[in-house]
Amino acid sequence: MSNSLLRFYLLAQKSMRPVLLSSLSFSKQEQQYCAEISEENAQLRRILGRLSLYYSRKVILGSRKSESVKFGENGKPIVDGLNISISHAATLGEMQLCVCTASKDIGAEYGIDVALRDKPISWKSSPEAFISKLRMNKSMGTPNEWDQIMAKNTVREQLNEFYRFWAVKESVLKATGAGASAMRPSRIDIFTEMEHPFELGGDVHLEDTSFLIDGEAQNARVFEECLTVGNCNTSFYLAETSLRKNDDPRAHPEYSPISHLSLQNLLDEIHSDAD
Ligand SMILES: CC(C)(COP(=O)(O)OP(=O)(O)OC[C@H]1O[C@@H](n2cnc3c(N)ncnc32)[C@H](O)[C@@H]1OP(=O)(O)O)[C@@H](O)C(=O)NCCC(=O)NCCS
Repeated sequence: MSNSLLRFYLLAQKSMRPVLLSSLSFSKQEQQYCAEISEENAQLRRILGRLSLYYSRKVILGSRKSESVKFGENGKPIVDGLNISISHAATLGEMQLCVCTASKDIGAEYGIDVALRDKPISWKSSPEAFISKLRMNKSMGTPNEWDQIMAKNTVREQLNEFYRFWAVKESVLKATGAGASAMRPSRIDIFTEMEHPFELGGDVHLEDTSFLIDGEAQNARVFEECLTVGNCNTSFYLAETSLRKNDDPRAHPEYSPISHLSLQNLLDEIHSDAD
């Protein structure tokens, strides 16, 4: 396989959890990592994430499945020979979603994140009051980002725009490997050029959003798109960051559409080379 991106998503319902967990039986470490979470859907999402890492390694590198996936200092999954990132979320129905992006190691770091469209707010008063409350918390956005959010016409668009910035920020935090625990999100300042992909509709993807870290421009490329999954009719906003050192002249990978990977195909591939 070339250096192009492998981009896919998995969907699973709760009843699949035992089968998928047992498919990780080749690694006790992975089973323990998944069993740390007791809530069944959250555990299922973690299992999907781990399987995505093994699937990507198998497809891109042809590696045997028993070599363990490692963790960086702040929890970033490290798969030798790959640049890779995952994100997971619940759909509005009974399904659990995991998205993954990966390529052969080209010296770029990837971060991916998804955000539900029109995310319901569990807030006792109005959406307007919810936005005001978010705005008062400095860690929820920079002044520049709030200017862009509040320029939207409706509170629905403002909320989707807020979650857009949040997802881009998460994707940057993942690409750096720091996560929110080691890098204050307010150190990242995001600039969008285009409307939200939800407002543009169709199969658009954007590549012109940029960001600063501590005021410094980054050698990065951000993909943004809308992902509508399966029969459950749920749409997500997807942000994916590729980050390189500023003096690295190599190109970022080109966009390729994300596609649905069936659980059967995933399991067949992972188990096709049993140790
Ligand atoms: C963990 C974190 C990297 C992302 O978490 P998240 O967006 O809530 O969850 P997602 O499902 O999108 O991603 C989780 C996956 O990210 C990966 N991940 C975890 N830590 C990571 C890190 N430091 N770097 C890169 N990837 C990481 C793991 O694969 C994890 O999956 P797993 O738990 O099944 O192993 C981190 O940013 C965080 O703690 N977020 C909490 C919310 C917050 O404060 N966000 C600020 C945004 S403005």
